[in-house]
Amino acid sequence: MKNLLLIVGLSVLIISCREDNQNDKISISKNTQNEMAKIGQQQEGKKLFKQYCMACHFIKPDPSKRDQMTAPPIIRVVQHYKGTYSDKNDFVKAVVNWVNQPNQDAVLMPGAARKFGLMPPMPIGQEKLKKIADYLYNADFGNFGKMKHKSKRELQLNKGKKYLLDKSDIEQIHQVVSLLRNTDMQTVSDYKQAGKKVFVGARNILLNKKYEGKTLKQVQLFFHNIEDDIHHLMSVKNKTEGEKYRKIVLNKMLKFDRFFSSEK
Ligand code: HEC
Repeated sequence: MKNLLLIVGLSVLIISCREDNQNDKISISKNTQNEMAKIGQQQEGKKLFKQYCMACHFIKPDPSKRDQMTAPPIIRVVQHYKGTYSDKNDFVKAVVNWVNQPNQDAVLMPGAARKFGLMPPMPIGQEKLKKIADYLYNADFGNFGKMKHKSKRELQLNKGKKYLLDKSDIEQIHQVVSLLRNTDMQTVSDYKQAGKKVFVGARNILLNKKYEGKTLKQVQLFFHNIEDDIHHLMSVKNKTEGEKYRKIVLNKMLKFDRFFSSEK
């Protein structure tokens, strides 16, 4: 009987200890559950990114591996996508759509598309792909300079003459410029739309296969110096910002006719 009491007593002690422990666990996990889940997801996203994307994309630009580059460094890709899709859901959606079906009309990096050719579509499950996109949005790749370094090269005429482009390309730029002259834009979305139109005009020219050699270099140089501003205009958050970037982009675009023409 004494023994039995002892056993019962001990069991109660053990059980209550266990409960205490469990309570501890629960309170720890409640506080850190979200964090842990986030970290876990980030790590999984990173693993998937390595597995599916890093065959072509380096993380950062590496001058010593320039020749091995077959795609733009992912840090630049993320800069472009965040510049255009600041909201996380929009960002994830855009990356997912892109990987499912890369196409010229969705290209945000026409320079890269021209240089490397269009990315092939990748057959990846949508859940995995979302995790990768999520990881890219949250990852801290470090502060790796501005989107574009200011080019040291200057725009120049071709032996005193303007570079020749297709008439349709020139006309599109003229339309864009007259749109940018509109000093009476009403909503944030008007500014974004204008930015998008400038971007599409620039993209069409950059992806026009007819332009090669010096002419291509010159168009690349022209848009290189304006690309950041176009992206800003496409993603402004209020009218003040919109007005600021409308003016900057307009002033830069006004120089287009100094260097390019469709007339011989
Ligand atoms: C077979 C090589 C290859 C693989 C693998 C690859 N990419 Fe790409 N990716 C490219 C190339 C080349 C470009 C640049 C040309 C372009 O924009 O299409 C690019 C561009 C991109 C862009 C920018 C497109 C734009 O708007 O201009 C995104 C976003 C992107 N890749 C995401 C991914 C993700 C995410 C993965 C992994 C799931 C991945 N890529 C795997 C070759 C690859």
